[in-house]
Amino acid sequence: MSDFLSKKEIKSIKLWLSKMHHYKNSSKSKRANKAKKILNLKYKKLGNGRQRIAYDLNNGYVLKVALTRSGIQNNKTEFKIYKHCRAGLRKYLCRVKEVGHGWIIMKKMNIEVPNKIYNKKLPKLKNKFLDAGLKPRDMGNGNVRLSKEGKITVVDYGNFIMY
Ligand SMILES: Nc1ncnc2c1ncn2[C@@H]1O[C@H](COP(=O)(O)OP(=O)(O)OP(=O)(O)O)[C@@H](O)[C@H]1O
Ligand SMILES: [Mg+2]
Repeated sequence: MSDFLSKKEIKSIKLWLSKMHHYKNSSKSKRANKAKKILNLKYKKLGNGRQRIAYDLNNGYVLKVALTRSGIQNNKTEFKIYKHCRAGLRKYLCRVKEVGHGWIIMKKMNIEVPNKIYNKKLPKLKNKFLDAGLKPRDMGNGNVRLSKEGKITVVDYGNFIMY
């Protein structure tokens, strides 16, 4: 049961997950295109990485569906880290709302981080994560956004490692 997705939408995700292995050696864009076609969701695609495709749920949240087995793992990791990290660290991690097998729903964050701010603030933020027992990985500018409060927030922390 989901507060955000219908039974039909969850069924579509299951269908895609059952076919996903056919595309494990395809290019990133071919895999995402196949997923988009099979998922056949009514939402606008926001983007995709190597492991996940993101949709705009049009209510301030995004749905990320796994494109690969690593993507399934990345969704699990984000949920686990968001749930278990120190309270003071949460403001730097995009808020997770709901999770299911192969999918996750997070707050939509649009504001790209200007390079000047990124370069200035990233080292300190990385240290904050390290001090809290989290190894930050893949913190490129494409995986972070600016919060309303002007804080750098990670939207893709699926490859972080929690000690
Ligand atoms: N919370 C969010 N708000 C807005 N857009 C998002 C959000 N999360 C992800 N996106 C968009 O979806 C794309 C894919 O998401 P994400 O980076 O989490 O996938 P990935 O496949 O794990 O990426 P990578 O290839 O870096 O491992 C992002 O590059 C970004 O454009
Ligand atoms: Mg990414």
